Amino acid sequence: GKNWVLTVTAQTPTNIAVIKYWGKRDEDLILPINDSISVTLDPDHLCTTTSVAVSPAFIHDRMWLNGKEVSLSGGRYQNCLRELRSRASDVEDEQKGIKITKKDWEKMHVHIVSYNNFPTAAGLASSAAGLACLVFSLAKLMNVRDDHSRLSAIARQGSGSACRSLYGGFVKWIMGKEENGSDSIAVQLADEKHWDDLVIIIAVVSSRQKETSSTSGMKDTVETSMLIEHRAKEVVPKRIIQMEEAIKNRDFPAFARLTCADTICVLLIDLIKIKAFTFQDNQLRRKMESFQGTPQVAYTFDAGPNAVLISHNRKAAALLLQRLLFYFPPNPDADLNSYVIGDKTILK
Ligand code: PMV
Repeated sequence: GKNWVLTVTAQTPTNIAVIKYWGKRDEDLILPINDSISVTLDPDHLCTTTSVAVSPAFIHDRMWLNGKEVSLSGGRYQNCLRELRSRASDVEDEQKGIKITKKDWEKMHVHIVSYNNFPTAAGLASSAAGLACLVFSLAKLMNVRDDHSRLSAIARQGSGSACRSLYGGFVKWIMGKEENGSDSIAVQLADEKHWDDLVIIIAVVSSRQKETSSTSGMKDTVETSMLIEHRAKEVVPKRIIQMEEAIKNRDFPAFARLTCADTICVLLIDLIKIKAFTFQDNQLRRKMESFQGTPQVAYTFDAGPNAVLISHNRKAAALLLQRLLFYFPPNPDADLNSYVIGDKTILK
């Protein structure tokens, strides 16, 4: 019959880059111009939950994000779906009498239902969690046998930063050399247990969608600024080596210095050209910079106004939270004002 349906549900946390990906050498395949390093968060606080379903009754691929149907016609979704279909294997459920062969997957359609437990497109890397979860859940449904690194190369084509959410802990996205992107993959540098007293606080000051997407921001800068090339060629490679050392040795002062330095670099680019980093809360930034003398905390911003603070232990995090709440109590003018404490984690 046509009434059966098979489903898979997965949960994927977002990740926060401490050495940023900024700038693409290939727009379609999403190949970056530098390596990047991130920390994957705890899914209890910032994650995407996605259920995927396949049934002979489905006549199109369809997707709902936070309850609203969204189009899958974009190139990025299509690239992910095509890659996954081409790697699918036979799926059998003997109890239900279901068999989907490798060949069947070419014409079977899927429904995708996805929820973010945090503001979408507000610079909290919702696309990272979202696309990683989409690829991971579909790969399970379709019995794709590739390992996480190979899956990361597929997620990368959905959203660059998504490739890093396939792993927990500390993750490096290697830019790769190949034109087809086969070596532009994520690898785990250290798992979530490696440095388990790091605490991540995200000060969500706005849930509004950012004005400029990361994609258009990067494009402007690559085309118009020499700075971004200088950053990719001269600055980031050294920082990557130092950051890997800092993580390996759990050297918080070095980790904090590098994290803060890299976010400032991206912000400089912002001042020169783009609006992507709508850095609305200068007051918060100044406060955070004043914490820098004593490296108790590292801060970093992605493509939005929300601050990510990384503290080297729980005691320091508690103090930091007190100060945050003292200086920035919930504000009736802000559409959202909350603090999320997260740990590093693994994919569930
Ligand atoms: O993956 P995208 O296209 O949303 O770009 C993300 C870029 C930053 O978050 C600003 C940096 C990074 O490395 O995650």
